[in-house]
Amino acid sequence: MEITPSELGLVARVTNLTKSYGSAPNTVTALDDVSIGIRRGEFTAIMGPSGSGKSTLMHIMAGLDTPTDGRAWLADTEITAMGDSELTVLRRRRVGFVFQAFNLVPTLDVRGNIVLPFELDGRRPTVVEKDWIEQLIDSLGLANRLTHRPYELSGGQQQRVAIARALATKPDLVFADEPTGNLDSRSGREVLALLAAASASYGQSIAMVTHDPIAASHADRIIFLADGRVVEERGRSSAEEISRIMLGMEQRV
Ligand SMILES: Nc1ncnc2c1ncn2[C@@H]1O[C@H](COP(=O)(O)OP(=O)(O)O)[C@@H](O)[C@H]1O
Ligand SMILES: [Mg+2]
Repeated sequence: MEITPSELGLVARVTNLTKSYGSAPNTVTALDDVSIGIRRGEFTAIMGPSGSGKSTLMHIMAGLDTPTDGRAWLADTEITAMGDSELTVLRRRRVGFVFQAFNLVPTLDVRGNIVLPFELDGRRPTVVEKDWIEQLIDSLGLANRLTHRPYELSGGQQQRVAIARALATKPDLVFADEPTGNLDSRSGREVLALLAAASASYGQSIAMVTHDPIAASHADRIIFLADGRVVEERGRSSAEEISRIMLGMEQRV
């Protein structure tokens, strides 16, 4: 019997993950034998320079893409053994996403965007879930914006709607890909504080991909990628410490 990810305290795990694009001799290796675990209840940052394979890793962990080789689990479900339609259902029910470009539905108002995961799953929120959504709306400061469309909101407000949508179903894992990439520094800090609070206050597991040391300094744990490989791992660190590690990585190459 294999040890399960949950027995290891993990909400996601990948082992010996490789991803190559193109065919020889023009192969690009985006991921090269990556093995990591995302701990349940923690806010984990996956940090690395542009082109290091962060988005590729996130897409495979979230079941949006398949690896060339290796295995991936979400909780105790091996997603690399699943077909496309099963993966679609798994993503809807058990994963939340926050993207750099917000990815809100322009024709839906704020409330419509927040409850979209339930709509897509063909069900209505339960009483308990409705309560939770109202709490999220309050704590994210969206109460007086519920009938607004995305284009009527600032970038920071749009990203708060995306966070509310990602947290609404209390998914196993929320993936955030450069969530502050399109925000000014003040809105960016707010978004990071909200993600950190979701993990600290009710144990939401979050995996955030970023190249920004300030963003990574909000995480409980930081996994460093360079050229498709894991090169370092740290607990909570200051932006200065993270910058120093990044600089060291660049000099090693
Ligand atoms: N669809 C693709 N086709 C070919 N190469 C790709 C594709 N997606 C990513 N890559 C390459 O894989 C590497 C890692 O990309 P990516 O995961 O987007 O890095 P990051 O998110 O860290 O910037 C880069 O060299 C990139 O050019
Ligand atoms: Mg990327």
